[in-house]
Parts: sequence; C-alpha cells; structure tokens
Amino acid sequence: MKKISTILAALLMSATAAQAATLAGVPMKDHHAAAFGDKATCAVCHGPGTPESRPSDKACIGCHGTMDKIPTKPNRFDKFPHASAHYGNTLECTTCHAEHKPSKALCNDCHNVEWTNFK
Ligand code: HEC
Ligand code: HEC
Ligand code: HEC
Ligand code: HEC
Repeated sequence: MKKISTILAALLMSATAAQAATLAGVPMKDHHAAAFGDKATCAVCHGPGTPESRPSDKACIGCHGTMDKIPTKPNRFDKFPHASAHYGNTLECTTCHAEHKPSKALCNDCHNVEWTNFK
C-alpha cells in the first residue's frame, strides 16, 4: 500500500501541461477515482498522447505488481483468477479488468464463479 501511494505521488507530480485531458467526464472505477482524484491524467494508464484503445498493462503492473503478487481470497469454487491452472499469470490485466465499463472475468466464460471482490 505504501509503495502504491509513493508511485502515485510521483506520477501526479510528473503530470505536465502536455497531458491536458483529465479524468473528469470519463467514467472511472470508484477505487481509482478516489485514489487519483481529479489531478491524475489519462496518461497514468494510457501513456502519452490521446487514448484510442485499451492500455498495455505496464502501468497496472507498475503500481500493483504482477498477478502472482496480488493474492485473491479463497472461494468455495476453488478458482483463482490470478493463478489458474490454464493461464498462470500470463494474461494481461485488461483481459478481465476494465476501467470505463463493468469488468468481465474471462473465467466466467466457462465457469460459474461468484467473486466477492471483483472490480
Ligand atoms: C486506471 C487506468 C486508466 C485510466 C486513468 C484511464 N483509462 Fe482509459 N482504459 C483503461 C482500460 C483498462 C481500458 C480497457 C477497457 C475499458 O474500456 O474500460 C481503457 C480503454 C480506453 C479507451 C478505448 C475504449 C474502447 O472501447 O476501445 C479509450 C478511448 C480510453 N480508455 C480513454 C481514456 C481517457 C480519455 C482517459 C482520461 C480521461 C482514460 N482513458 C483514463 C484504463 C484507464
Ligand atoms: C498510479 C497507480 C495505479 C495504476 C496505474 C493503476 N492502479 Fe489500480 N489502484 C491504485 C490504488 C492506489 C488503488 C486503491 C488502493 C488499493 O486498493 O490497492 C487501486 C485499486 C485497484 C483495484 C481495486 C482493489 C480493491 O481490492 O479494491 C483494482 C481491481 C485495480 N486497482 C486494478 C488496476 C488495473 C487493472 C490497472 C491497469 C488498467 C490499474 N489498477 C492501474 C493504483 C493504481
Ligand atoms: C474456455 C473455457 C475455460 C475458461 C475460459 C476457463 N476454464 Fe477453467 N476449466 C475449463 C475446463 C474445460 C476444465 C476441465 C473441467 C474438468 O476437468 O472437469 C477447467 C478446469 C478448471 C479447474 C480445475 C482443474 C484444474 O486443473 O485445477 C480450475 C481450478 C479452473 N478451471 C479455473 C479457472 C480459472 C481461475 C479461470 C479464469 C482464469 C478459468 N478456469 C478459465 C474451461 C475453462
Ligand atoms: C483472468 C482474469 C483476471 C486477470 C487477467 C487479472 N485479474 Fe485481477 N481479479 C480478477 C478477479 C475475478 C478478481 C476478484 C477475485 C475475488 O473476488 O475473489 C480480481 C481481483 C483483483 C484485485 C483485488 C484483490 C483483493 O485484494 O481482493 C486486484 C488489485 C486486481 N485483481 C488487480 C489485477 C491486476 C493489476 C492484474 C494484472 C497484473 C489483474 N488483476 C489480472 C480477475 C483477473
């Protein structure tokens, strides 16, 4: 947690006038809106330039670490999205996590799992 806030503070301070667009007006997840406030820019995830498609997950990993470093809670279905027998930790975060629309877990294409903390 401390590491994330340090990275976030550094990113916010490095935001320049060239990154003019703010998050205002674009739907964001509550957790990121709260964490970033109105000061952060699209570039925090999308990199420089006008965003046109989903970002690479380099930014996600820069703040959160790789999937194998993010434990999910045990569930009665015995399914672990960040460490499945099928994919290990090889998937991009944005395969499942969206930002501007509801997220959709790939696992649920084939399995019925009720997640308790999927955002
Ligand atoms: C916290 C990370 C994050 C931030 C900050 C962010 N985005 Fe995104 N963006 C995503 C992710 C993840 C996707 C892919 C899924 C989705 O649409 O939510 C995406 C997708 C997009 C797309 C492609 C949509 C599509 O249908 O292909 C556009 C355009 C976009 N973002 C614009 C923006 C703009 C403009 C801003 C700043 C106002 C912004 N984003 C800020 C994470 C972010
Ligand atoms: C600038 C740093 C930063 C970037 C980039 C970032 N996040 Fe976050 N994210 C945070 C912070 C801070 C929180 C709130 C504290 C927490 O829950 O860890 C958060 C919260 C979350 C949560 C909710 C966790 C919970 O249990 O409530 C998810 C899911 C998440 N981020 C996924 C992503 C994904 C996927 C991306 C890339 C598209 C991304 N984040 C990009 C900093 C970042
Ligand atoms: C394309 C369909 C598909 C997707 C997507 C999928 N699975 Fe599976 N999964 C299967 C099938 C088929 C089996 C085998 C069922 C059997 O052996 O009875 C299986 C078996 C499993 C098993 C039990 C067997 C083992 O090897 O451990 C787990 C746990 C599992 N999946 C987790 C996941 C998770 C977590 C995700 C998301 C990251 C996921 N699956 C995504 C089709 C899928
Ligand atoms: C295969 C789909 C999938 C991929 C890929 C994925 N996640 Fe997740 N993630 C989930 C699901 C589903 C949950 C909710 C698990 C639950 O509720 O038990 C989750 C939970 C989380 C959480 C909350 C963990 C907690 O404390 O409860 C964070 C943070 C997160 N993901 C970030 C990421 C990041 C960052 C990446 C890429 C490095 C990533 N995820 C890749 C499906 C995925």
